[in-house]
Parts: sequence; C-alpha cells; structure tokens
Amino acid sequence: MTILVTGGLGFIGSHTVVELMEQGRDCVIIDNLSKSTLNVVDRIEAVVQKKVPFLKVEMLDKIALREVFKAYNISSVIHFAGYKSVGESVKQPLLYYQNNLISTINLLEIMQEFDVKKLVFSSSATVYGDAHLPPLKEGLALSAPNPYGRTKLMLEEILRDFVAANTEWSIALMRYFNPIGAHKSGLLGEMPYGTPNNLMPHLLNAASGETEKLQIFGGDYNTEDGSCIRDFIHIMDLADGHVKALQYVEEDFGCEAFNLGTGVGYSVLNLIHTFEAVTATKIPYEIVDRRDGDIVISIADVEKATTVLGWKAKYRLKDMCIDSWRWYQTVKGYTI
Ligand code: UFG
Repeated sequence: MTILVTGGLGFIGSHTVVELMEQGRDCVIIDNLSKSTLNVVDRIEAVVQKKVPFLKVEMLDKIALREVFKAYNISSVIHFAGYKSVGESVKQPLLYYQNNLISTINLLEIMQEFDVKKLVFSSSATVYGDAHLPPLKEGLALSAPNPYGRTKLMLEEILRDFVAANTEWSIALMRYFNPIGAHKSGLLGEMPYGTPNNLMPHLLNAASGETEKLQIFGGDYNTEDGSCIRDFIHIMDLADGHVKALQYVEEDFGCEAFNLGTGVGYSVLNLIHTFEAVTATKIPYEIVDRRDGDIVISIADVEKATTVLGWKAKYRLKDMCIDSWRWYQTVKGYTI
C-alpha cells in the first residue's frame, strides 16, 4: 500500500517523505514544482538510499490527479501542497483561495472515487488568530488574520463537514508552529522560493554575510527582551509527527486537530543568541518597526499530540540552529 504525499518536495513534505521511507513505508510524491525544484527528489533519495516515485502533477487538474490514483495502490494521503506566503496571499487572495481550496476539494473527490479514506492535512497554528493567551489548545475558537490563514481555516471547516457526512473517514488536521532546522545529513532543508518570509532563512543570510543585517521586527513588545516569542520546532520532529498522525488515521475514524510544537517558547533574540553560541558566528542585526499582523507570543499546548498520537518533540533549540547552519553551508545562497 502506498502513501501519496502531495507537495512532497517542499520543506515539510520532503522531510516527512524521508521519515516515512526510513520507517519502511512506500510513498509516491506529487508536486507541481511551482515553489520547489526537482533536485529535491535526488536529495531525498541520497538520504534514504532508495528510489522514490515522483510525478509532476497540478492538483487543480482533476484528470491528472485521477491518473495518480489509477497508477498507484494508494491507501492514505498526506496533503502538504498549497501556497503559504502570507504577504503574497494579501496581494493575490484569489490565487490563494483558488489554489489551496480547489486542489484540496479535487483531492477529496478523487479519494472518494478510489475509496481512500485516510488523510493527514497540513494546517497551521495561524488558525488560532491573535485572540488567545498561550499555550494554545486545539479546542480554542479559531480565526485567521490573512487570506493564507483563512484558506487553512476554511479547509479545516470543509474537512470537518466532510467527515461529519462521511463518518467512515479519518482526517488529522496538523497545526504547525514554527518549523526550522534541517535533516542531519545536510542534504535536505528549507529552500525558500524567492524572497524568504520566515525568520530562519533571513537569519542564515545575515549569519553568512549574504545580507548585511537581520532585521528584527519590533523590540518593544511586552516580553522579557521585547522581541516576539515563538514555539520553534525541528523539522524532523514535525516529520515524525506526521508519521504518528498517519498511524492514527489508519486506525481511527473522525476528524481531529493536533498541534505540532514543542510547548516551549523562545524569543527572536533568544534564537539569535543561541545560534551565535552553537555555531560560533555573529549575526549582525537591527531592531526595526513591528511587522503588521505579528502575534506577540505563540506557543503550543502539546498535550493532545502527546497523549493521542504518542508524539513528543525531541530536538532542542540548539539542534535546530546547528542543523539549519549545516544545511545552509552545503547549499550556500540557497534561494531559488
Ligand atoms: N521576524 C523578524 N525578522 C524577519 C523575519 C521574522 O524579526 O526577518 C520575526 C517575526 O516578526 C516573528 C518571528 O520572527 O516575530 C517569527 O516570524 P516568522 O515569519 O518566521 O513566523 P510567524 O510566526 O510569523 O509565522 C509562522 C508561519 C506562518 C503561520 C504563522 C502562524 O510562517 O505560515 O507562523 O502559525 F501562519
């Protein structure tokens, strides 16, 4: 039986494929290569020392998607494919609604046609909005601050409605906090498409001298050092969380959300200082104005994933920094 991994050449998808294959599971990857590159297939194969089937498929094309299900004996799906840039989503909301919503609806329809009823869905902690105090528990009321976040929120609702009408299905909604780090081999890591949005790629560029300075958005928040606090999680812990979620949907029914975080928050300045200490580099930075829409503190409550999935993050902040740095040095100037 084969696990279909959509968006499997992206940051989280590629690391999850490695984790699945290392556990002896068969995968087929689909990706439309719009925000990723084909050489990630070689990188995955170099890490696991096995071939992995890859198909360039546009999920908006239902006929092409159907062909994948015809060609492989798919038992379950992990669905990562989707656009994820907050800024781009504000500028091009229709692109985001069209791409993220329609591709997922197409996937559900084709899964139904082929009687595949197990799905792990890539959501985001962004669905908690900014109305709650941390730690954030799965049962909280949801809201999303931008079109990207709203696609995740709408899809969670669509998936819940779908399971309510199809009770023999099983879907896990994975809410990620802040994934950083890379595979230990240095062969696989994050490859931001165009100008990076997230903190770690900017930090790496500043640490390497690629950019002059890291800009820290806001130094006057009501936190210990004035910078925002995030629940940074190692990408391999996140990948392991998906393997555990897959085992869960394989055995259970219903629709459940799970946080994937460490349950511990570090400030942006903490991250910078830890990185400097463990990599013996200096990160030139300046504190600039707050970024619109930033949440001050985002930390997961991880009890549900721990008790229900039997999953817990293992890596520490210093591992995340060391692994990110190793990866960056192998691919120097990695923006695609
Ligand atoms: N930051 C900087 N400088 C930068 C980039 C980021 O200071 O150059 C700061 C941000 O202001 C924030 C922190 O670093 O305080 C983390 O920012 P990221 O952009 O890395 O991550 P966010 O927490 O803002 O966003 C992440 C995901 C989103 C998701 C959101 C909520 O990237 O997709 O978490 O879960 F929507």
